[in-house]
Amino acid sequence: MSAPSTDRRARGAGAARGADALDRSGAAQPGAGLAVERVRWSVDGTLIVDGVDCTAPPGAVTGLLGPNGSGKSSLLRLVAGVTRPDDGTVRLGGTDLVSMARRPRARVVAFVEQDSSTDLPLTALDAVLLGRIPHRSLLAGDGADDLRLAQDALARVGMAAFAGRDLGSLSGGERQRVHMARALVQEPRLLLLDEPTNHLDIAAQLATMDLVRTLAADGVTVLAALHDLNLAAGACDHVVMLSGGRVVAAGPVEQVLVPDVVEAVYGVRCEVLRHPRTGRPVLVLG
Ligand SMILES: Nc1ncnc2c1ncn2[C@@H]1O[C@H](COP(=O)(O)OP(=O)(O)OP(=O)(O)O)[C@@H](O)[C@H]1O
Ligand SMILES: [Mg+2]
Repeated sequence: MSAPSTDRRARGAGAARGADALDRSGAAQPGAGLAVERVRWSVDGTLIVDGVDCTAPPGAVTGLLGPNGSGKSSLLRLVAGVTRPDDGTVRLGGTDLVSMARRPRARVVAFVEQDSSTDLPLTALDAVLLGRIPHRSLLAGDGADDLRLAQDALARVGMAAFAGRDLGSLSGGERQRVHMARALVQEPRLLLLDEPTNHLDIAAQLATMDLVRTLAADGVTVLAALHDLNLAAGACDHVVMLSGGRVVAAGPVEQVLVPDVVEAVYGVRCEVLRHPRTGRPVLVLG
């Protein structure tokens, strides 16, 4: 199966803005995106991530696609540093994320997991403020700036009215948006999202992808696992298709989300049309 070049430049002004900004630790080189090379991870002798090479261009949205069990969450956890690869490298702007200490990495990389449920007795605002911890000194509490950032982030995900609500009392979609707000206040250079639209209604799905595109335009490198191929086709600049723990295709949406690839990976026939307003690909499945 073809694997189009993954070196496509980011579109829009995002890459340029990203190139001007420095992260606070000074660790990651700005402007360059994520490069995953030869990453391998097994559990109890079973290879789950099988020598993955992929990139996520800077200031762009990269969709991580593939069937259930293809290794999307496993790869995101490896990139986030939640688990360590058995082999291979994960670099952001040339800096090795695998060997980076937890705290400086948390200033650069934010991760919203697939099922981020919690038993902790936190309000939505408290949960968002957790995202500020990597940015302040160890003994300091939340400052006025942290509070303002957290309130702004809640507003950006449409959750301002829920600031005082117990996290455990929120609906799945509401909680997912709070976790997104927590990632926003981390002010990451790399944002990793595992099925960010999973629990969301269609309006919230589109709003989330709009938000993600805005972040990318501001220079953030986004890698998001998605199941909805049309959401990916509408919002991603670049896609990486996994199957059985391996990359089977990667590149611009128009080159990867094509009938041959979709049928080979999912066993589902599709036709590709054009969105009448945006001109983006629309997949008609089945
Ligand atoms: N800690 C683990 N122990 C054993 N098997 C694991 C572990 N983590 C993942 N796996 C297995 O690795 C494979 C890939 O899982 P992963 O969660 O990465 O898939 P995914 O692409 O995110 O799937 P989904 O679309 O269902 O979220 C699955 O078969 C899963 O059962
Ligand atoms: Mg998953």
